[in-house]
Amino acid sequence: MEALRGIVIVLHLISFAMLFGAWFAELLSKRQRVTGLMQWGLVAALVTGMALAAPWGLDGDLNYMKIGVKLVVLVMIGALLGIGGARHRRKKPNSSILFWSIGLLTLLNTGIAVLV
Ligand code: HEM
Repeated sequence: MEALRGIVIVLHLISFAMLFGAWFAELLSKRQRVTGLMQWGLVAALVTGMALAAPWGLDGDLNYMKIGVKLVVLVMIGALLGIGGARHRRKKPNSSILFWSIGLLTLLNTGIAVLV
């Protein structure tokens, strides 16, 4: 069970890498678009995060306050990705505030996961 939990944590970290990596690539390329890889990364983070939120393969307790805050932040990122994706389909440019909010909220969730 512990090993399986370890595998799900690795998948959760890969989903974070997909979301943040895709965002960072857009930042460096100066396009600032919302991409499909970001959306898939978010879905994967939700699925693996929910699996990790159940108390299995663990010795200690889970911090449900922290998990709840991460879930709220994920929903906010999802809303921004939805708005950005819809604007992209209508060939309208994204605002910088929307684009930066996606990256900063992703980093916020990483900070909550690692530091709290
Ligand atoms: C953008 C979304 C998310 C990001 C960037 C993210 C990031 C991370 C990172 C970097 C870790 C590893 C922390 C460590 O091992 O020290 C982690 C662990 C974890 N995450 Fe997430 N996460 C996200 C969404 C979620 C969601 C939505 C949930 C649950 C509803 C969740 C639940 C968890 C749990 C339970 C752990 C394991 C904590 C532990 O066992 O110590 N995450 N997350």
